[in-house]
Amino acid sequence: MKPLGPIPAGYGAVDGVLAVAGKPVTHWVDQAGATPLFLYSADLVRQRVAALRAAMPRRLGLHYAVKANPFPPLLSLMAGLVDGFDIASGGELRIVRDAGIAPEKVSFAGPGKRDAELEAAISAGVTLNLESEGEAARALALAERLDVTPRLAIRVNPDFDLKGSGMKMGGGAKPFGIDADRVPALARRIVDSGADWRGFHIFAGSQALDAEAIAETQARAIDLAARLARQGGVALPCCNLGGGLGIPYFSGDTPVDLALVGERLADRFAHLPGFLDETFFCIELGRYLVGEAGVYLTRIVDRKVSHGEVFLVTDGGLHHQLAASGNFGTVVRRNYPSAIATRFGAPVEEEASIVGCLCTPLDKLADKGGFPRADVGDLVAVFCAGAYGASASPATFLGQGPATEVLL
Ligand SMILES: Cc1ncc(COP(=O)(O)O)c(C=O)c1O
Repeated sequence: MKPLGPIPAGYGAVDGVLAVAGKPVTHWVDQAGATPLFLYSADLVRQRVAALRAAMPRRLGLHYAVKANPFPPLLSLMAGLVDGFDIASGGELRIVRDAGIAPEKVSFAGPGKRDAELEAAISAGVTLNLESEGEAARALALAERLDVTPRLAIRVNPDFDLKGSGMKMGGGAKPFGIDADRVPALARRIVDSGADWRGFHIFAGSQALDAEAIAETQARAIDLAARLARQGGVALPCCNLGGGLGIPYFSGDTPVDLALVGERLADRFAHLPGFLDETFFCIELGRYLVGEAGVYLTRIVDRKVSHGEVFLVTDGGLHHQLAASGNFGTVVRRNYPSAIATRFGAPVEEEASIVGCLCTPLDKLADKGGFPRADVGDLVAVFCAGAYGASASPATFLGQGPATEVLL
């Protein structure tokens, strides 16, 4: 039997059925009318934000990375909980604007911004986290043509990465950000151009669970930002320290020690150089805020045995949960947390693989896990589905189409 990832805190059962927002998931499936279905718990998101706020220094702003989950009702919830939003495309700009989010709360990072995206962001008053000197030149030229003062920050490619992170976004040659040694001169040019200079964005990695590593990276980001601002002779209105806080997906993973990260940052803030007294510091997080608040539900449509192995075949799959299938940036496939939702908490009775309805061996939601015996009609729950699920999966593959999403 292969281990399953840990089921996140906050999930219980009603009459032996997994419950979300106080009701069994069978109720929510009946209401939605069909599976597959993503359920997002507003309460779990609120609790997560509250825990983060309580642990972090008051001075630290909290931004939501829309890429983790752009579901409009979730964004509207977030609008009342966080201080800003990170977007990665013109499409996400439209989504945040449609959600009524004020453009001055939005920053736009990501390589390969097209002129039309730059124009839309500049006209709206969104901060651009510039990813290259070329992009900076295009942004300045477009702003002049539009006769708008652009809000500009530089995304720095730091000379370090976030140790232990699942995805490294700094340290060495990267398509993201501008190499640190070239940043002071560009910052100076931006300030001299008369643009609304916003500061630095330093994102060194994502999905880290080691609080020491996160704290160290944040400290290095602060030092780097201070050094670059000094060298460029520019002020530092804002300093986005990136994110990186991960969630436990796999057996053996443990949650980030938030208290340690918060204490280290508070200590750091207490010893800042004077010229950073007025700097607004923030972090931008996606999966940490919403990942564990989401669960993906799919129904078993077939139960079969092949060469002695049990396969529970569902009406969902990797077209909604690419990451859980192990095909979204993982080297070695490991099982996400999953369960038979209609027999939640029942003892393990058999080894079974939960597969999707796509005709590919890649479409596996759980490989040889231990489950109570399940049959056609039972519901399967895949946890940690609130981030990089619905919007990060190829929903139209094989003509399948998207799952329903509901915020509770
Ligand atoms: C610039 C930037 N910000 C925020 C995020 C969100 O990361 P996570 O969802 O792991 O918090 C990413 C992820 O790749 C990113 O590249």
